[in-house]
Amino acid sequence: MKPDYERILISENEIAARIAELAAELDRDYADKDALFVCILKGSVFFFSDLLKEMKTMPVIDFMAASSYGNATVSSGTLNITKDLCVSVQGKHVVLIEDIVDSGFTLSRLKEHLLSRHPLSVRICTLLNKPDRRTVDVEVDYCGFDIPDEFVVGYGLDYAEKYRNEKDIYILSRSVYGG
Ligand code: IMP
Ligand code: MG
Repeated sequence: MKPDYERILISENEIAARIAELAAELDRDYADKDALFVCILKGSVFFFSDLLKEMKTMPVIDFMAASSYGNATVSSGTLNITKDLCVSVQGKHVVLIEDIVDSGFTLSRLKEHLLSRHPLSVRICTLLNKPDRRTVDVEVDYCGFDIPDEFVVGYGLDYAEKYRNEKDIYILSRSVYGG
């Protein structure tokens, strides 16, 4: 084990198996719909790509970026949309693809923001969910894994922009961020 990590939380194989199940669920729900799948940058890129490759449905895809974290491990409480969509949401069933729902702040704000542009629907699909940390109510429609209140990295998830390209998801040692 590399010294920065406490242990593996979810392995590459477990991620792949769960993504295949999520893709099947989404295929069932979106096969006959005009869908727009939105990758929330940057943490979701690996999840987004692997999920979409497993799907038979071919939605329009686009990217959004928002930041509320800076380099800390707790939310700063304000959300900046740093990159907006390039395509219109009108007439579309939107699915937001996120790496992790923690306090719920980011996704509740993003969902609100998109709903104001009148899409047909907005749903949330997240790889990871930390239910114990929720402070803002947000409905998670598709979830890969509920995880405990630990800071995790890898498979897209970062701490201060590091560790994103690990294949597995690790619990970061508290000594790294002084938690
Ligand atoms: P929320 O607004 O508190 O729900 O935070 C969501 C964002 O915080 C995610 O998109 C991540 O970028 C970041 N985040 C929350 N928990 C973790 C974690 O354990 N590891 C890495 N990033 C995290
Ligand atoms: Mg994120």
